[in-house]
Amino acid sequence: MDKQQYLDLIKNLNYHNYRYHVMDAPLISDGEFDRLMKQIQQIEKEQPDWISPDSPTQRAGSPASEKFSKVVHPQPVLSLANAFDFDDVLAWLDRIERIDARVRDSDFVIEPKIDGLTIVLTYEHGMLVQGATRGNGDVGENITANIRTIRGIPLRIPVDPNAIAAPEQLVVRGEIFLRKDDFEKLNELNIQEGGKSYLNPRNTAAGSLRQLNPAVTASRPLKLFTYNILQCSDPELDSTQMKALETLRKLGFPVSPDIEYCQDRITLKAAIDKLAAKRDLLAYEIDGIVIKLNDLRLAAELGSVGKDPRGAVALKFPAREMTTKLDGIGVNVGRTGVLTPYAILSPVEIGGVIVKQATLHNFDFIHERDIRIGDSVMVKRAGDVIPYVIGPIPDLRDGNQVPYQNPKTCPVCGEEVEDSKEEVAIYCINSACPAQLIRNVEHFASRGAMDIEGLGIKIVELIVNDQLVADPADIYSLTKENLLKLEGFADKKAENLLAAIENSKKQPLNRVINALGIRGVGEVMAETLASEFKSIDNLAAASYEVLTEIEGIGPRVGTAILDWFANEKNHALIQKLKQAGIKLEVTEKSPASTTDLPLNGKIIVVTGTLANFTRESIKETIQQNGGKNSDSVSKNTDFVLVGENPGSKLTKAQSLGIQIIDEETFLMMINLK
Ligand code: IVH
Repeated sequence: MDKQQYLDLIKNLNYHNYRYHVMDAPLISDGEFDRLMKQIQQIEKEQPDWISPDSPTQRAGSPASEKFSKVVHPQPVLSLANAFDFDDVLAWLDRIERIDARVRDSDFVIEPKIDGLTIVLTYEHGMLVQGATRGNGDVGENITANIRTIRGIPLRIPVDPNAIAAPEQLVVRGEIFLRKDDFEKLNELNIQEGGKSYLNPRNTAAGSLRQLNPAVTASRPLKLFTYNILQCSDPELDSTQMKALETLRKLGFPVSPDIEYCQDRITLKAAIDKLAAKRDLLAYEIDGIVIKLNDLRLAAELGSVGKDPRGAVALKFPAREMTTKLDGIGVNVGRTGVLTPYAILSPVEIGGVIVKQATLHNFDFIHERDIRIGDSVMVKRAGDVIPYVIGPIPDLRDGNQVPYQNPKTCPVCGEEVEDSKEEVAIYCINSACPAQLIRNVEHFASRGAMDIEGLGIKIVELIVNDQLVADPADIYSLTKENLLKLEGFADKKAENLLAAIENSKKQPLNRVINALGIRGVGEVMAETLASEFKSIDNLAAASYEVLTEIEGIGPRVGTAILDWFANEKNHALIQKLKQAGIKLEVTEKSPASTTDLPLNGKIIVVTGTLANFTRESIKETIQQNGGKNSDSVSKNTDFVLVGENPGSKLTKAQSLGIQIIDEETFLMMINLK
């Protein structure tokens, strides 16, 4: 191979690198790429004096340095004035229109404001000769060795030999960033390896870029988008912003695909709204939208105010992340007794809302991220999600920060807690714990369990705090007098609740099992258990071996079931449920008995709201009494049960001459009145 062939090979490989890293459209396989790379390495070993600086082997070639040298930028690297809403944007246009009337008819380019770090790349005769940080805008740091490791940055332009020729001198500005998914992956890996957590893609990208050892930078999946030609020996290449972007693309630089041209102010507004709506869907973080006059000559003539050029403005999104002080860590107790920590924060405004508390996920999260009380922490609030703590800012520690100790006792009942070895969870195992009791009763009465309408969290809190119930079974002893003493209860409400409670006694065994709130036993598992064991007594007597033989029951749930039934208080609960008349066994429908059922074989359609039943419970009641519930009225329908505000089913029934019954009659039919 001669030297020219070697240089062609480099050009070829750099082009494939560009297809892969910039265009996301590779033309050759990874294997083929590796083969070409090996070929280059081999030649360079044989002919070391041929080695060209744009060879892909030269990306991570330099050793670590002591510190970065300073570089003076050929042009000041300017900043941008901020706008916070579209009115601010219009005010900016008004201001510059007063300076130059041509602004009135100007067109625009809008670009995502990438939340990364500015870099300045200098190319001479097509070769990358320098990469620098922005610094103070006049003087930056020379980070060429690090820049060269970033695969999306061309070492020589043009990358595509068929595109335009490179200008003799070119200085390009762009933003280095990490994609959201790459950041997540990197952070996971870092925490697994015991490193401290990174706060966000921007900080991580910044840290990665300013590494004295280029090998570290090379190991981070940094990306680049370019958006500005700072200096160019051919002024025609950037007469407008669209032209400049096109030039950058043609030369092989990565340019954001989310940039849009806007003919006038009306399309500008629409394009801004569209990009803002896309914010969360973008693969990278943006903190605003940059609006630029397309005519760069006009923009240059407008000059700048301090470091802010008049020809562009940054429409900033409200911040989603803020730092504030972690004043303390509170602990909530859930239904299963699981303890969850939450952050008590010095109040901070994030996106127009004052945030005082934030999620800390679980106790392991606190330790993994080394979050200490008194720390400055980064808090994020985005969209509908509950605000959460991202992590601490250790650099702001003053020595008064205290590492967090996991609770040894339940914050509500004071009993000792259990540190679950299998999960990242701590549990309060005292079933009489008021916090748990509230959640337990709420769960007991919930839709998928006993389905007691009107017994939501608020009422449950009232009856638990008034000590009317000490376990879920006590709701069956509630009286009208009890309820009337509670805030917000009058005759009707008390009667409705009592009727709903009474009605729940007919719930089938699977719902009762779900209602017990055994850890790991949800609706589906409860159905399995009901059909396997047929009664609570059988389930209570089941051994670990028998339980874990059932499909879907592993050691964790098996143990949880055993533990639950081993608890004395739960025995008492079951006894009380029995006495209250709750069905604790499956009622087998023997052929003889089905014919005895009051609604035997009858097809019933329900319309409107019923006083004593929910949609779910009426279906079940019909079935339990031998009837069939159907959704539509036909001539086969036996009768239509009509509640308040009936729908078109009533008219249909009338037209077909089907028997219509009210709720009272229905209750009599099933012998409840
Ligand atoms: S234009 C004169 N365009 O935002 C040109 N800046 O507050 C001024 N940025 O320091 C910059 N994306 O680091 C421009 N598409 C974009 C940008 C962008 C991110 C950053 C840039 C600048 C800051 C301005």
